[in-house]
Amino acid sequence: MILDVDEKILISKELRKYFRGIHEIHKIKESSWSSVYHILTTNRILFCKVGPLAGAVTHEYQILAFLRAQGLRCVPEILSYSEIGGKALLVTRFIKETGYYNVRKLAENFAKVHALKHKDETCKNFPIEFILGMENELSDLQYIWGKENPKRVRLMNKLGDALKQMRVLYKKRKQLFAQEPLRLIQMDAQDVVIPSVNEMYLVDWHLARYGDPACDLARLFIYEQDKTKKFDRDEFIKMYARGIPVNDSLLWRINYFHLGSLVAMLLYSFGDSVNLVRYKSSPLVVQQSEKDFFRRLLDKKIENNFDQIYLMLERLGH
Ligand SMILES: Nc1ncnc2c1ncn2[C@@H]1O[C@H](COP(=O)(O)OP(=O)(O)O)[C@@H](O)[C@H]1O
Ligand SMILES: [Mg+2]
Repeated sequence: MILDVDEKILISKELRKYFRGIHEIHKIKESSWSSVYHILTTNRILFCKVGPLAGAVTHEYQILAFLRAQGLRCVPEILSYSEIGGKALLVTRFIKETGYYNVRKLAENFAKVHALKHKDETCKNFPIEFILGMENELSDLQYIWGKENPKRVRLMNKLGDALKQMRVLYKKRKQLFAQEPLRLIQMDAQDVVIPSVNEMYLVDWHLARYGDPACDLARLFIYEQDKTKKFDRDEFIKMYARGIPVNDSLLWRINYFHLGSLVAMLLYSFGDSVNLVRYKSSPLVVQQSEKDFFRRLLDKKIENNFDQIYLMLERLGH
């Protein structure tokens, strides 16, 4: 609580240099990488993220600055960025959500982002490493707490089997992933689209990196389809194809990453928070809210999820 007050004082003191009439600072979210605030001034609302220096907030600032410099108007405008007291403080324009939802505009915006080339050797092949790495995550989980519960053991073995098949498929189709150069991908997908007046804003760039756009699309489709009936996948692809060539390879990889997400949801929905604490330092951290979200997206009857997984594996194999 004391820390909260300290942070609000820091924000208030720093932001008075940039903005007039600040009268309320509300914390709306806290996570291991940042705290999120709504700041009310006499004439507008500001959106502010605070986190450790050189961490997620700094990364988000750099990505947003890059995207705006490339002429993208569908990402929030940066109003200020400060490094103070060991913290990074990013303020962007607050985007007001309206009922307006334009899937064509959304596709156009993603195509603009995915058109941005970059070569970053440090994160080559990112989504694939994530998927193949799940085999290790699974065997760690099996070791920690799978043993006593025969039902869990059976389910975990099934997941292990699916992951093995995914690795075999990847090796067989490796040329489909040999995509150069890599593109900028958003990588979060949950609550990142804000439909507003005449624009479909893309927010929350702290996980952005260079990787395979197919992974971005697979995750976006899962999340948007869940969120709104207004999302139309075919319409999206049709519009996206005007900016980025859509070929069989891209469609195959979208399905591959969709399957990877399904397997990941099952894997992480199994883990109890306590057992997942040891993964806190990994980029695969899964928050409780995300686990609850996974449980909601998954079929309650666990066997149905596996039926879907095997069906997708079969289709991808042909
Ligand atoms: N500029 C913005 N204006 C309005 N709402 C935003 C803005 N950026 C993010 N949000 C919303 O605020 C919530 C938290 O922000 P988010 O960027 O997702 O934080 P985190 O980095 O913790 O994931 C999300 O629901 C997101 O949609
Ligand atoms: Mg977020």
